[in-house]
Amino acid sequence: MARMIALVPAAGSGSRFGAPSPKQYLQLNGKPLMWHTLATLAAVDAIDEVAVVISPQDEWFDDFDWNLPKLSIHRVGGACRAESVTQGLQALACAEDDWVLVHDAARCCLPAAAVERLIAALAQHQVGGLLALPVPDTVKRADSEGRVGATVSRNGLWLAQTPQMFRAGLLAKALAGVAAEDITDESSAIERLGMKPLLVEGDAQNFKVTYPRDLALARAILAARDAE
Ligand code: CTP
Ligand code: MG
Repeated sequence: MARMIALVPAAGSGSRFGAPSPKQYLQLNGKPLMWHTLATLAAVDAIDEVAVVISPQDEWFDDFDWNLPKLSIHRVGGACRAESVTQGLQALACAEDDWVLVHDAARCCLPAAAVERLIAALAQHQVGGLLALPVPDTVKRADSEGRVGATVSRNGLWLAQTPQMFRAGLLAKALAGVAAEDITDESSAIERLGMKPLLVEGDAQNFKVTYPRDLALARAILAARDAE
C-alpha cells in the first residue's frame, strides 16, 4: 500500500525575519516554532512519517527535545527550498506511488482539519494538489512609482499554501526538470509538466511566519487552540 509522508523543508535561514537563529527555532508558547508544525502533521492518522529536512550545518535542532512520534530527521537541506525538498525526497527513498505532503516548517498554525481535507480530496486524484485560499481582498498592481497602476480582478485568484501533495515519483521527476531557484512551490514544478493540480480550500490560520510581526498572531492562534 502507498505510504503517506509529510516532508517538511526546514533548512532556511529566516533572513526576512532577521532573528539570530532561524525562525523555525524561535520559542513559541514554550516550544520551538517548528515543533507545532511537526506535532500537527504527526497527529494526522493518515500520515505514516513526518520527515524534517534541516541544513547539514544546522546548529540548533539538537538543542531541543522534540519528543514526537513518526519523526525522521534528514540533514540534507540545500541552498533553496526546492533543493531541500529534492534532497529530502532522495534521502527518503520513497516508492514511486507514495504520497508526499510537502509543508513549510514556518506554517506552524496549520489546522489538522485542513490536512485531512486535502488528503480526502486527493484520494482518487491523478495528479495531486495543494491547500490554497481564494483571494479575499481587492487586488492592485503597482506601477514603478508605487502608485496604483491597475485594479486586477480577483476572480479565480488563489493564494497557494502548503501542504502540497503529490506522488513521490511524479514530484521527483517534476523537480528534476526545473532550475530550483525559479520554483517557490511544488505545484509550479508539476504545472510545468502540463498537469493541473487540484486547489483545495486551505485556512487563513495556515499563514507562513515570515516577519517578527507575524509571531503575535501565531501565539494567539496556538494559545486559543490549547485552551479548547
Ligand atoms: N527552506 C529550506 N531550505 C532553504 C530555504 C528555505 O528548507 N534553503 C524552508 C524554510 O525553512 C521554510 C520553508 O522552506 O520552512 C519556506 O521558506 P521561507 O518561509 O522563505 O523561509 P526562509 O527561506 O528561512 O526565510 P527567508 O526567505 O526570509 O530567508
Ligand atoms: Mg526563503
